[in-house]
Amino acid sequence: MFRTNTCGELRLSHAGQEVTLSGWVQAGRDFGGLTFVDLRDRYGITQVVFDSDDDAALAERAGKLGREWVVQVKGQVRERTNKNPNRPTGDVEVLARELTVLNKSKVPPFTIEDATDGGDDLRMRYRYLDLRRGPLQQNIIFRSRLALAVRAYLGGEGFVEVETPNLIKSTPEGARDFVVPSRLNEGQFYALPQSPQTFKQLLMVAGYDRYFQIVKCFRDEDLRADRQPEFTQIDCEMAFVTQEDVLTTFEGLTRHLFQEVKNVELGEFPRMQYDEALRRYGSDKPDLRFGMELNDLTALGQGKGFQVFDVAELIVGICVPGGADLSRKQLDGLTDWVKRPQIGAKGLIYVKCNEDGSFKSSVDKFFDQAALAGWASVCGAKAGDLLFFISGEAEKSRDQLGRLRLHVAEMREMIPAGVFKPLWVVDFPLLEWDEESQRFHAMHHPFTSPKREEVDRMLTGDHETMKSLRADAYDLVINGAEIGGGSVRIYDRGLQEKNFQLLGFTPEEAEAQFGFLMGAFEYGAPPHAGIAFGFDRLCAVMNGQSSIRDFIAFPKNNQGRDVMIDAPAPIDAGQLRELALRVTVDRDGAKR
Ligand code: AMO
Repeated sequence: MFRTNTCGELRLSHAGQEVTLSGWVQAGRDFGGLTFVDLRDRYGITQVVFDSDDDAALAERAGKLGREWVVQVKGQVRERTNKNPNRPTGDVEVLARELTVLNKSKVPPFTIEDATDGGDDLRMRYRYLDLRRGPLQQNIIFRSRLALAVRAYLGGEGFVEVETPNLIKSTPEGARDFVVPSRLNEGQFYALPQSPQTFKQLLMVAGYDRYFQIVKCFRDEDLRADRQPEFTQIDCEMAFVTQEDVLTTFEGLTRHLFQEVKNVELGEFPRMQYDEALRRYGSDKPDLRFGMELNDLTALGQGKGFQVFDVAELIVGICVPGGADLSRKQLDGLTDWVKRPQIGAKGLIYVKCNEDGSFKSSVDKFFDQAALAGWASVCGAKAGDLLFFISGEAEKSRDQLGRLRLHVAEMREMIPAGVFKPLWVVDFPLLEWDEESQRFHAMHHPFTSPKREEVDRMLTGDHETMKSLRADAYDLVINGAEIGGGSVRIYDRGLQEKNFQLLGFTPEEAEAQFGFLMGAFEYGAPPHAGIAFGFDRLCAVMNGQSSIRDFIAFPKNNQGRDVMIDAPAPIDAGQLRELALRVTVDRDGAKR
């Protein structure tokens, strides 16, 4: 038997018991005749003591143990004289009588402690060591508990878990596909699913009524803190439902998960139309944990000779509470921040609302005190506050100010910790016009249904009409993160064909790519709708974090690489031949 107890288990009530523990040596300390070893496993840390008065040879061996050696200790539990209140096992120690080294360890390249000295790269290379650390273990165990809770809840609601294939044909979710060459079908490729979208719809046609899957999805897109090339969805679909049914069901799931796994009561979720979210927050995923809403100043700001405002489609402003204390340097810093290419604003106008009731702005030349007072009043500013304005094209200006709003909130620590603000964003546009490619893209995906009352306009309307079509599409947002998205689906062949046509597909292209789905619609497809949550994001947001990486056991780095297994990697010539592939870059990077 390797152990009678875990390293997190022993308490005063165990005093006097003979126990066997196995684990990793976290640290050793030598105090003359006494050697203390902290023994660690997933469950905790227990202090083991070796007394040279009892057994000098044993104590000497204990003194030679290295960090991260795997050992087994037999001994008796006893009360500690100097207790450690910071550890659940801190009242006791094990007085060792036997020590077996199960395996030695090299000195680890970074400290295996809650706060480590290891840099990102090193920790990724030795991910198995990083995963030994407490914070990562907690994340991964949290994720497991969450997945189990999802299964239990959805199972209880009558959802059937069905696995869908990973080797498929591309689904147009909007990102690039990862492709896999087929050996048996020379020159042909599978795509890894960006989501199981078409399969779950086919399961509805097949009568499964309620489907779910905790499923890996693959998207070859640029990586960010909240994006990985392979990530996990809680993917769902329901038949004979309206948008309302989906929102209610998944609000229920979300509330249950927070309750069960975090002991947090979420209550009802507010709903906000897409247009309203953009207008008030400059974002379709507003963070409602703080205010600073956007205000439209276009009418007030124009006609006073300030050219920048006069030619703008929109002037928007936010009020930073207490922001008048920002220094010139900080204001310049924020101006530079919005001018960075990632934000793309041309400039930033500010107005300080001084304590004495006067105003100081960066546009004093054009606007007198009365004009500035007017702006302050629209923005609800008080003495001591600061106003920021951005102007230009409406959509861009809102987006830029929306980002500044988040940045300022973080900078000024306006975001309360431990608070969760969920909301549904609803009534997304069906289509998005892309100036560059001069074509429509599906705002959610091509299987999304327009609102029922919009169907006629969609079938008969002109180009401009198409821009204004609304869909039964919805996102779940928590604390400014898009946790999930879904829609009511088209289940009629004609309407689906029309949608593909609007998206620029020829009938032949639509048939070649999605004939299987449109064909299925002709065999009794029920009305259906669904949603997918980003499971990694849900884990991160529930733990107040913005990066999903440390909720994934073996993530990729920012270049999409797994530096531990060193993937992606070239394959050898034989494999290439078998797959009928030719590469143009060989092992040492030389182009051929
Ligand atoms: P969507 O594309 O909105 O919808 O994806 C659903 C959710 O998945 C998460 N997500 C990601 N998480 C980590 N890394 C990524 N690269 C990544 N991309 C997306 C987000 C997102 O809200 N088939 C539809 C769902 C449906 O209509 O039912 C879909 O995939 O949290």
